[in-house]
Formats: sequence, structure tokens, C-alpha cells
Amino acid sequence: MNMVEPKDRIVAWLKDAYAMEESIVEVLDKQVAMTADLPEIQQGIQRHLEATKMHAETVKGCLESLGEETSGLKAGMAKVGGKVQGLMMGMAPDSLVKNALQDYATEHMEIASYRALIVAAQQTGLTEIETACTSILHNEEAMAAWLEQQLPTIVQLELSSAN
Ligand SMILES: [Fe+2]
Ligand SMILES: [Fe+2]
Repeated sequence: MNMVEPKDRIVAWLKDAYAMEESIVEVLDKQVAMTADLPEIQQGIQRHLEATKMHAETVKGCLESLGEETSGLKAGMAKVGGKVQGLMMGMAPDSLVKNALQDYATEHMEIASYRALIVAAQQTGLTEIETACTSILHNEEAMAAWLEQQLPTIVQLELSSAN
């Protein structure tokens, strides 16, 4: 094991989470534009987009509470965000179903990330970080449930539009 302070680890993971949320904002922005013909789905994506922006703000607040400078965060984003984007861009967003699968996978990546952060915050007694990440986690879980519930509708929509 190398000698990285637990707090530095948590800071690094929070920065990853921030980059992840920011990458998702970009993807969801595009999806909102693509679903203009499907108002119900578009509204859901819009809600997800707003929630994602709030998650990014919350994570930024966590970093600031740990004394981190956040103005330079975007500079480091390309590198860390690249991984998430790689995951998300693995499938071309050329169909509703592909987008739905991508969003579903991404949501679970978020769930895993916040679960890990919660454990790390608990282990190091960072109660405020734990609370913030727990509230984001609940939000991600609700979104994952919504995405799961939407999936049959989206598959049916795409099948019927193929005729
Ligand atoms: Fe999120
Ligand atoms: Fe999310």
C-alpha cells in the first residue's frame, strides 16, 4: 500500500464523482434534444438532467468543505471524465433503446460510486460527506428505478416505429 492519506483518497474520489456528473449532464443534454417528439420521455430526461446538475453542485460543496479549490476542477475533467465517457459512449446513441441501456448502466455506475464514497466517509468520520452522498445515492436509486420501469415502453416504442 502506498502512503496516501485517507482524506486525499476521498478528495480524489469526489473529483471523479464530479467529473462523472458533469459528463452525464452533457449526455442528458443531448438526449433532451433528441426526444422532442416524445414529451413524456423528454420530461423524465429533463428531470434527470436537473437532478444531475444538483449532484454536481453537492459534490462540489463536499470538496469545498474539505478545503479543496474547485475553480480548477474542469481542467482535470477531461482525463477522469474520459473513463466515464468511454463507458457511456461505448454504444452509439443512435436509438432510444441504446440510450436507455446506456443511462441504466451509467446510473448504476453512479450508485456504485456513491456507495463507495459513503463507506469511505463513514470510515474517516466525515459525517457531512456521508450525509451528502447518501442523499445523492437515494436520488440515483430512484432514477435507476424509473429507468428500469421505462425500459419496456421504450422497447415497444422502438419496435413499433420500426414498422
Ligand atoms: Fe448523479
Ligand atoms: Fe443519476
